[in-house]
Amino acid sequence: VRLFHNITELLTLAPEEHPADDPAEAGLGVVRGGAVLCGEDGRVQWSGPEGRLPGEHATGTERVDLGGAVVLPGLVDAHTHLVFAGDRTRDFADRCAGESYEAIAARGGGIRLTVRATRAASLDALAALARPRLLSLLAHGVTTVEVKSGYGLSVADELKMLEVVARLGREGPWRLVPTVLGAHIVPDAFKADRAGYVRLVTEELLPEVARRGLARHVDVFCDAGAFTLDEALRVLEGGRALGFGLKVHAEQLTRTGAAAAAAGLGAVSADHLEHLSEADADALAAAGTVGVLLPGAALFLGGHDRAPARRLLDRGVAVALATDCNPGTCPSTHLPLMTTLGCAWLGMAPREAVAAVTRSAAWAVGARDGTGTLGLGAPCDLAVCDVESWRHVPYLLGHNPVTSVWVSGRKVLSRPPLAGLRAAQS
Ligand code: NIG
Ligand code: FE
Repeated sequence: VRLFHNITELLTLAPEEHPADDPAEAGLGVVRGGAVLCGEDGRVQWSGPEGRLPGEHATGTERVDLGGAVVLPGLVDAHTHLVFAGDRTRDFADRCAGESYEAIAARGGGIRLTVRATRAASLDALAALARPRLLSLLAHGVTTVEVKSGYGLSVADELKMLEVVARLGREGPWRLVPTVLGAHIVPDAFKADRAGYVRLVTEELLPEVARRGLARHVDVFCDAGAFTLDEALRVLEGGRALGFGLKVHAEQLTRTGAAAAAAGLGAVSADHLEHLSEADADALAAAGTVGVLLPGAALFLGGHDRAPARRLLDRGVAVALATDCNPGTCPSTHLPLMTTLGCAWLGMAPREAVAAVTRSAAWAVGARDGTGTLGLGAPCDLAVCDVESWRHVPYLLGHNPVTSVWVSGRKVLSRPPLAGLRAAQS
């Protein structure tokens, strides 16, 4: 049993346990002068104001002094493609010169380029490339990461990617949630037989992934240059029949109607959503599907399209913010930066952006065990931040506030704070 104490602001994201007085903090469950008690099982046994710690824990408990830090639950990145090989800096330069993502993809660049390099890489090589990306996420406070396949596009290469995720998940300390994205694009070999590729995914790949227990969710990229709505529905229905949770890349480049259709199938999340209609937002709300917004990707593609964060939140849709960490549209592991973009660019309130990388992001990966919170029974994963207040997390543009990270109550990473920076914030 371990007591984390001397916490200026503890964000429990458990408002039922710690209701807010200030509407600007609604939903965050902020405790000033807080402490967290971690049980032997690595879960929160108690959290609240340090002065109200139940007497039986006041002695004989190992105490960890967090030095007046602000503490958030370990962050959850609900959408990444961080297993890949190859280099896309040329695509980037071409886009900066004015060429579109779709045009580059149509001439064989884009995802296709990454598929060639990923197929050529061994399982060991892919793991060696992905590991530092996970470490970088961890250094930004992220302890739970959704990771997609989707650069293999054959049964063997998709399984290879998912085996990389399984191996890295066993290594830890991060918690990985694997997703099979066999239907990312139609591979070259099936150009003339798209239906044949959809059958390969639904009849061969998904059953094998289910048999090996290599993914929790099935995802499909439904858009111009990828899969049609009809094809996407076949993939999602196949996934649902096998017991997978459902996710969808929807309404990113164009509106296809995939978000609402996936919601109708009970999808856990619909992601991107820049071209979402009013009726689509109603469909997400009705189904309880989480909207996962990826402003880093939208910005990196030129910043022409903004997801309708307000429309979703005002209708009661839970909104998550994720990095989309991938070589084409968002080569970033900076989840705190996505909270800044969520506020400054998408119109979210700072409290909504913080919930979007913790509690709501956990829902988006199907984790309903308290992950993304520090309420009773939640995993004791902490992102310890050297900031004046939680409001500085989305405010400090491009700054990484995280100085130590704990998983199941154990320290997994720490780095020295920048001397004097905290004083300079006030
Ligand atoms: O989420 N939208 C499709 N897939 C990725 C991009 C993948 C890539 O360009 O390599 C995305 O943006
Ligand atoms: Fe994506």
